[in-house]
Amino acid sequence: MISSTITGWGHEVPDNVVTNDDLAQLVDTSDEWIRERSGIRERRHASDGETTATMSIACSTRALERAGVAPADVDLVLVASSSPDYLTPPVSSQVQEGIGATHAGAMQLTVGCTGFVYALVTAQQFISTGACRTVLVVGAELTSRWMNYNDRSTCVLFGDGAGAVVVQATEADGCGLRGHVLGSDGSGAEHLIIPVGGVAQPTTKETLAQDLGGLRMNGREVFKFATRVLGTSLQQALDKANLAVDDIDLLVPHQANARIIDFAAREAGLPPEKVVVNVDRYGNTSAASVPLALSEAFDAGRVAPGDTLALVAFGAGLTWAAAIYQMGPAPLPV
Ligand code: UT7
Repeated sequence: MISSTITGWGHEVPDNVVTNDDLAQLVDTSDEWIRERSGIRERRHASDGETTATMSIACSTRALERAGVAPADVDLVLVASSSPDYLTPPVSSQVQEGIGATHAGAMQLTVGCTGFVYALVTAQQFISTGACRTVLVVGAELTSRWMNYNDRSTCVLFGDGAGAVVVQATEADGCGLRGHVLGSDGSGAEHLIIPVGGVAQPTTKETLAQDLGGLRMNGREVFKFATRVLGTSLQQALDKANLAVDDIDLLVPHQANARIIDFAAREAGLPPEKVVVNVDRYGNTSAASVPLALSEAFDAGRVAPGDTLALVAFGAGLTWAAAIYQMGPAPLPV
């Protein structure tokens, strides 16, 4: 089995900052309610001209530059997104073209907020078998254009952004993905759904008139589900890696709600300094949240060679995933 390590990272968020007070002008809410219930202070909303592809291309270019990898040397582009520019073609091909990865295959993974962790696990499989040496893994979402601004309990939570890492084969032993869990329970599908716009209910004049569009979430159910699966899946991934909670140097959880993150960290017994939290500044960026948090952690010098990272996420499907990823021994790019 061939090992891997992360050699580059980058993130991209729109310049347009939307505060809780800004949202309170649009919907019946308040800064106090949003902060208390979710920990979110502000989020970014894309402006005209920005799309999931443009954000993905920007953060991918940054990640490749940092890794010192030429786009033509990328073997595979994986983009986790549930808000691609188009239903088809996949946004992964726009990213492949946009960065100039002329020799790469490209694939979009639509696994809700869990998508980036699924994609990272997928990247390792291609590297382990020797099929690929260099995989670009991206998580990107532009959900602000899909929000129903009549649903105050959901529209205040989400934001736009993208993050990317370059995963490369290495001769160093024992690093890369040490253990993982991928889960799905389709019986909870209705709790987090965009019901209109697919083939089951195409967008029609009637659905538009009835205001059926946008993301719908049963927040309480998703909250219960998240607190149930986060701790369990983290422990299962640690068991598979033959590691214990104390071996984790940094937990990078899906940034949906500060209360969910606090709960998961407390349950696992991890101190705050080992947990990455940026939900206060970006809200829930769905599949972008883990790579965005990870990229900021790299930028802040919170990841050292040899460190053990724990990535955990949950989302639409319902799905969940946990990955224990060990960095290689080589010094990280500045
Ligand atoms: O990545 C996808 C995963 N998604 C998530 O992880 C979301 C998980 N769920 C949550 O984060 C929380 O359930 C929410 C933040 C969505 C809601 O927090 P909550 O503590 O579960 O609140 P609630 O749904 O029980 O609502 C409490 C009250 C309700 O009023 P009543 O019925 O008690 O009078 C709501 O109508 O808060 C009201 N409310 C609001 N008030 C002001 C709901 N949304 C708002 C709002 N502003 N934006």
